[in-house]
Amino acid sequence: MVTDVEKPLIVAIDGPSGSGKSSTARGVAERLGLAYLDTGAMYRAAAWLVAERDLTEPADIVDAIRAADLEISLDPTSFTIAIDGNDVTEAIREPRISATVSRVATIQAVRDILIALQRALIAGAPHGIVAEGRDITTVVAPEAPIRVLLVADPAARIARRAAELGEKADQAQVTDQVIRRDADDSTVAAFTEAAPGVTVVDSTHLSLPEVIDRICALAQAT
Ligand code: DC
Repeated sequence: MVTDVEKPLIVAIDGPSGSGKSSTARGVAERLGLAYLDTGAMYRAAAWLVAERDLTEPADIVDAIRAADLEISLDPTSFTIAIDGNDVTEAIREPRISATVSRVATIQAVRDILIALQRALIAGAPHGIVAEGRDITTVVAPEAPIRVLLVADPAARIARRAAELGEKADQAQVTDQVIRRDADDSTVAAFTEAAPGVTVVDSTHLSLPEVIDRICALAQAT
C-alpha cells in the first residue's frame, strides 16, 4: 500500500538587517502553521556569552560556544532563548550585543557549530519550519523548496530599525547597526545578492501583510 506522507515544508528567508525578516518569517510561520527559527538570535546568544565571560581570543570563543547549551523555542507566537541556563530573550536585543555580534558571527568555526545546530532543528520540525537569517538559502538549507531574499532600500531599513528601538534610538547607533553590521556580516554570508533559484522580495514599498502574502503565495504554488 502506498501512503501519501506529506514532506515537512521548509521556508528559507535571508536578508539584511531591517529588511523585515523576523516579522515576516514569524507571520508566514503562523499563517502556514509551521515552526519558526530565528538564527540571528542564536548568534546573538553566542555573543552574549562571549560578553558575559569577557572572551577575546577566537579559540576561547569557539570553545565556549561549542560547550554551551543553547535552547531556542520554535514557536512563532512566543519566543525564548537560553544559553547555559540563562534566559537571554531580552538581553540579546541590547545595543551592546547588536554592536558586538558580528565579531562573533564572522568566526567561521562559530558558524560551523551553529549551522550544525540549525540544520538539526530544521530537520526535527515535524510539520515544517520557516528559518530566517543571512545564509539559510545558501548554506543552512539550500534544498528548501521556498527560498526568499528579502530586501529593502537602506533608508527604509534604517527607519524600521529606529522604530523598533523607539525612544532609545540614536541615529548614529541605528546607522551602525544597519549599514556597518551588514558590511561586516556580508564578508562571511552572501545575502546581498540572490543565489540561483532564490526569489527576491523587495519590502521597501510593501506592508508587512503584503510581504507575508507574497511568501505564502509561493508556498501555495509548490
Ligand atoms: O538578524 P539579526 O540582526 O538578529 O542577526 C544578528 C547577527 O547575526 C547579525 O550580525 C548577522 C548574524 N547572522 C549571521 O551571520 N547568520 C545568520 N544566519 C543569522 C544572523
